[in-house]
Amino acid sequence: MQLNVVASRLDEPAWDHAAEAAVTAVGVPVLESAAGPELVDGTPADVALPAAAVRPDPELSARRGFSGKVGQAMVVLRPEGAPATVYVGCGRRDALGSEELRAAAAAFVRSAGRSGTAVMVLPRLLAEQAVSADGAFAHRRAAQAVTEGAVLGAYRFSSHKSAQECGRVERFVVGGVGLDRGVLEAGVARGTQVARAVCAARDLVNEPPSSMTPTRLAEAAGELVSSADGTSAVMLEVWDEHHIAGERLGGLLGVARGSAEAPRLIRAEYQPVRPLKVDGHVPHVVLVGKGITFDSGGLSLKSPEGMSRMKTDMSGAAAVLATVSACAGLGVRARVTAIAPVAENMPGGSAIKPGDVLVVRDGQTIEVVNTDAEGRLVLADGLSLAAELHPDAIIDLATLTGSAVVALGRSIAGLFGNDDVLLDEVAAAAALAGERVWRLPLAREYSSHIESDVADMKNTGKADQAGSIAAALLLERFVRGIPWAHMDIAGPARSDEDQGLLTKGGTGFGVRTLLELLHAYGGPLPG
Ligand code: BES
Ligand code: MN
Ligand code: ZN
Repeated sequence: MQLNVVASRLDEPAWDHAAEAAVTAVGVPVLESAAGPELVDGTPADVALPAAAVRPDPELSARRGFSGKVGQAMVVLRPEGAPATVYVGCGRRDALGSEELRAAAAAFVRSAGRSGTAVMVLPRLLAEQAVSADGAFAHRRAAQAVTEGAVLGAYRFSSHKSAQECGRVERFVVGGVGLDRGVLEAGVARGTQVARAVCAARDLVNEPPSSMTPTRLAEAAGELVSSADGTSAVMLEVWDEHHIAGERLGGLLGVARGSAEAPRLIRAEYQPVRPLKVDGHVPHVVLVGKGITFDSGGLSLKSPEGMSRMKTDMSGAAAVLATVSACAGLGVRARVTAIAPVAENMPGGSAIKPGDVLVVRDGQTIEVVNTDAEGRLVLADGLSLAAELHPDAIIDLATLTGSAVVALGRSIAGLFGNDDVLLDEVAAAAALAGERVWRLPLAREYSSHIESDVADMKNTGKADQAGSIAAALLLERFVRGIPWAHMDIAGPARSDEDQGLLTKGGTGFGVRTLLELLHAYGGPLPG
């Protein structure tokens, strides 16, 4: 169950005093300053929930080590019946952005207790400070960020727990002070939709691998795109193994060969009701996601340790499918197609062997040197299909290489591509969405690393050298020069800790960036 978030104004007589009785925690944003933690100025003392205007006690703060740093929370219990005050750190005034608000809201829900209603105070000055742009646009974004932080911080994957886990607060109120109600509501609505899509991706990833097989993932994709609102704006097409063979997807078929589970090719197409026309043409973006429901490595078997978390190897597919499912609700005005080649990578009597050569969709051949480099094999087919649609842009997301984790760690995705304009747009969208990406070079001087003696290319690069670049160079060969961005999400797709917006397991990384990008894609920046 997703946390229910609503917008309200704490400085209006219309504040619902009946609802107030259910308030169990009041989140008060606090800035870090040389003089210690301080309230955001501009919170009048006469708001509903007077706790909102009470400065954190300096002595208590010092004793508890609470300085107002981002992510810190200090709970102050009040006499029985009164809601607890939770001071939430937003960091320094000059470093405040949407991401700090997300983290503050997440820290608040994590410490707001186990039931009831949590109200987070959002003073106008904080909203303004949080985004460089001024006016309603900034306010909307601030409310959106708080909503995303609350919902994502409250996320739990509990479908396989036999006993009900201790809960979280049930209701979250974004309590604006000095902010327009319509703008607040628009922000909460957007934040709710975005967070719902991220949680949907997390749910797909967190499901155990034997219950999230390719067949099942295709069914789940159907449920995802139709549950949005009955009359779906998304058309879903699922190819089974026979259809896949007929369409000559040799990479996907090859990877699936060692498994008892049949592969699937999922294609979901979103048509905007109110399309944006640029020179009479509706911009079209194709998203491609790696969907390995379990990566054992195949005959080039992984170690037990390396394999233990490989149910998350379909995070790219989950992200692109969840993104498409949210487009209608968010009013995306471009055409968006998601393509997910889905298979299980297993050793078996009919598995592909090192030395085999696969012919992929567009006719190019790949020598399989290592069956554990399977992502690029299925993506070669996925990207070929994408290129056939002649879109304006192709963006792929893949938990592709361990080297990306070595280079950038667990919070940052590697960003590659062939088009600086598109890559700048993706990087800007990621920054607004609060996801970390870092551009890495598509170093064509390394193309010799993937040269094969027997085929057009091989699926590995040089040992211990630029593994993520070698993989990206292979992918580029299938996009036919169309503007393309590749996100290697091997690090950030999964979290090992419950912290901030993240919960252990799948993170849904990429969904927020893609939705932010699609929101603005092809047109002027809307509010
Ligand atoms: N799914 C893995 C990449 C991965 C590793 C994701 C760690 C998340 C965490 C991918 O299929 C893989 O095994 N890549 C190999 C490629 C190598 C054999 C060329 C790798 O990176 O080790
Ligand atoms: Mn692998
Ligand atoms: Zn893999």
